[in-house]
Amino acid sequence: MLNFGTKKINFSGLGDSFKLSNEDLENMYGKDATQCFNPKLKDSFVFSESKSFDLIELEQLLQAVGWGRRPLRRVKRALDNSLLKVGLWKHDPKFPRLIGFVRCTGDGVIDATIWDLAIHPVYQGSGLGKQLMTYVMSCLKRTEIKRVTLFADSDVINFYKRQGWKLEPKGNKCAFLYSN
Ligand SMILES: CC(C)(COP(=O)(O)OP(=O)(O)OC[C@H]1O[C@@H](n2cnc3c(N)ncnc32)[C@H](O)[C@@H]1OP(=O)(O)O)[C@@H](O)C(=O)NCCC(=O)NCCS
Repeated sequence: MLNFGTKKINFSGLGDSFKLSNEDLENMYGKDATQCFNPKLKDSFVFSESKSFDLIELEQLLQAVGWGRRPLRRVKRALDNSLLKVGLWKHDPKFPRLIGFVRCTGDGVIDATIWDLAIHPVYQGSGLGKQLMTYVMSCLKRTEIKRVTLFADSDVINFYKRQGWKLEPKGNKCAFLYSN
């Protein structure tokens, strides 16, 4: 069970050694970080919107899911200009490992768009992608933002549909691409 915002964690079946105190959680992963235990993977993970990223580690994650290489200085600028960046770390007291990521762009008031959702292939299929979406939506709900959009690759449309996302209903809007 994950209960966002209250730092409630289900550690059933595990010793207390896996649990971080709220103070340690904040010190390691930043404010509003949430720790959870994944029973399928039998490991502890932390969602955080405030822990900073190692750009090389982030790019390695995004390349692991099959996305192309990007210049790190452009990635850094894109992150700096994003409204919200959320990381998912496999908890380790010394070397937490980034295994999930999602970010949002937007005006901070009316609209936000979700980009770059990725879970490392080794950790896919265990509910973490869904939990990462729940976490990012809980972060957005704390703001004034009224509308959240995303552009799904064709092979993940059902992943979003299962979570209640609806395709643009009347089919009277479509996405255009401009790229230089
Ligand atoms: C898409 C992605 C984030 C899903 O993460 P994940 O951790 O494997 O997904 P979860 O285990 O949380 O799956 C949650 C549910 O969605 C389903 N699901 C997962 N991937 C799916 C897919 N590609 N299509 C349809 N359903 C999918 C699961 O079966 C599960 O169903 P359930 O709730 O009934 O058990 C992950 O596969 C990924 O990083 N893919 C590569 C990058 C990518 O395509 N990102 C999306 C860009 S639009």
